[in-house]
Amino acid sequence: MEANAAKRKEPRKALRVKVISMGNAEVGKSCIIKRYCEKRFVSKYLATIGIDYGVTKVQIRDREIKVNIFDMAGHPFFYEVRNEFYKDTQGVLLVYDVGSKESFDSLDSWLAEMKQELGPHGNMENVVFVVCANKVGAAGFPGFPGEFPGVWCSFRGFLYWETSAQSGEGIQEMFQNFYSAIVDLCENGGKRPPGGAGAGFTREQADAIRRIRASKDSWDTLGVKPGASRCGAIPGFRRERRGPRGKGRD
Ligand code: GTP
Ligand code: MG
Repeated sequence: MEANAAKRKEPRKALRVKVISMGNAEVGKSCIIKRYCEKRFVSKYLATIGIDYGVTKVQIRDREIKVNIFDMAGHPFFYEVRNEFYKDTQGVLLVYDVGSKESFDSLDSWLAEMKQELGPHGNMENVVFVVCANKVGAAGFPGFPGEFPGVWCSFRGFLYWETSAQSGEGIQEMFQNFYSAIVDLCENGGKRPPGGAGAGFTREQADAIRRIRASKDSWDTLGVKPGASRCGAIPGFRRERRGPRGKGRD
């Protein structure tokens, strides 16, 4: 009994985790890390050469975690240096610049680079990804049409945060949620807990997303039996087509 009580009082060992940053050059990866660790912002662009490394300690719930951060250079020139660092990673900070659609479109190639470097036995499913839509509030931010980044993230089970390394907006909350999801992952035996990251959808929506991702054909995607009519396939279709005064063609 006494031995058990003593055991209970022992502080839990600090968790050691590895986090990497990925994303095109100049999207603000280093500035995000600097804002969080040093509470400051540098407006002059100093490209990361290869990799920058740092360690930080954070408290998440009752756990102390020691985070090893590997801040990668986004320039393609450094590919050979980066590829050593993808393995044994628990968390990825995936950053794009809200003023550059190209930097958002490149996220897929960053994931592909990581996948390729991890090889056939690498498992990207059990890594926590947080996508930072950085530089929000920057002058002239046009936004961009097309794929909605929040949905892109939810489909992949990634966290999504809008951040500004310049003003500090979203940075603290993003890291807290990111590290919290990493602790959940570690406490779940290194496996991403179901429904953990990428929240923001109701249970019903999350189920629909899972069904769509696993669907075999377009009937399956719509969740109807083959041959269903248009109105059966999309509830509310008839009403919407009629419009508010019922003057629609159907
Ligand atoms: P590489 O190391 O080359 O891969 O670039 P990086 O992604 O680390 O970019 P870095 O953090 O060096 O920032 C690039 C430029 O964007 C710098 O001039 C920063 O001052 C600027 N920057 C970063 N974050 C923000 C932000 O939130 N708002 C604004 N307005 N500028 C930012
Ligand atoms: Mg950098």
